Amino acid sequence: MHNLEEIKLKALEELERIKNLNDLNEFKIKYLGKKGIITEMIKNLKTLTLEERRIFGAKLNEIKDFLEEKIEKKKEELIDLEGDFYDISLLGYKREFGNIHPITRVFNEIIDIFLSMGFSIEDGPEIEEDWYNFTALNIPKYHPARDMQDTFYLENNKLLRTHTSPIQIRTMEKNNPPIRIIAPGRVFRRDELDATHSPVFHQLEGLYVDKNVSLSDLKGTIEIFIHKLFSKDIEIKFRPSYFPFTEPSLEVLIYKDNKWLEILGAGMVHPKVLKNCNINPEIYSGFAFGLGIERITMIKYNINDIRLFYENDIKFLKQIKGG
Ligand code: FA5
Repeated sequence: MHNLEEIKLKALEELERIKNLNDLNEFKIKYLGKKGIITEMIKNLKTLTLEERRIFGAKLNEIKDFLEEKIEKKKEELIDLEGDFYDISLLGYKREFGNIHPITRVFNEIIDIFLSMGFSIEDGPEIEEDWYNFTALNIPKYHPARDMQDTFYLENNKLLRTHTSPIQIRTMEKNNPPIRIIAPGRVFRRDELDATHSPVFHQLEGLYVDKNVSLSDLKGTIEIFIHKLFSKDIEIKFRPSYFPFTEPSLEVLIYKDNKWLEILGAGMVHPKVLKNCNINPEIYSGFAFGLGIERITMIKYNINDIRLFYENDIKFLKQIKGG
């Protein structure tokens, strides 16, 4: 018994001197581990008489509980201490920085270019009414142009917007000219997912309405934009096209990697669209344009499959970095 009390005191002294979690662990193994001093003694109880076993067993269990409790307490103290302890000689951990998603990156770049040209940002809902997405844009019900954009229809005459053009209408309804806005957003079409199409993608709309806005203003604006986004010497081509809400309508192409690539649709705002928003087409004129962000990003970074944008493969995302 005397010996046991001594072991307990010695252990306690040892414990007092411990300064770190590693040593504490060693201590725990030394006394309470599988082959620890106390554990071994408990195992050896079976060699004693019943009476001795009762006395020594009780004492050993008391020491074991006592040490366990002390070790826990010490552990808490050491954790508190080590929390404030910096070893300046240790090697640092390498922290990985996140990367801005290529779609966000290109969105931001494009938005900055238009902000620098005096455009401001407008927003609109993703769940739209037929009027804003189609009718006010000179695409009445049963007009064949509705088939140009396959639509997700919802209940109560609502739909998921198929383009950002409804924001043109919402902006012109609310404001008098001069209007000079861009509208970035997510759009939805019933397109099969393949290398160049996604049912959910991003567009950026532009609209400029004022007195005497002409086609050359549109050309000038688009040229500045493309030169800033790609490079000053990139070749640009304007080609006639058709959109119900612009007249005339055109497509813009750039020459890159030995190919002409279409990058946006545009045109002069159709007089009917202005009238639908109570803007007098005798006094005001305007231009509008719309571009697909995925498509432009693919052209800018030579990406050949749109699906890469949505898979979140870190190896892909890491390749498109700042600058
Ligand atoms: C429009 O959506 C017109 N609202 C653009 C516009 C605005 C024209 C203002 C005139 C004035 P379009 O349906 O062509 O146009 O789509 C524009 C761009 O969206 C396309 O050039 C393409 O880059 C992109 N796009 C269309 N469908 C998909 C799709 N399923 N996945 C990814 N991008 C798409």
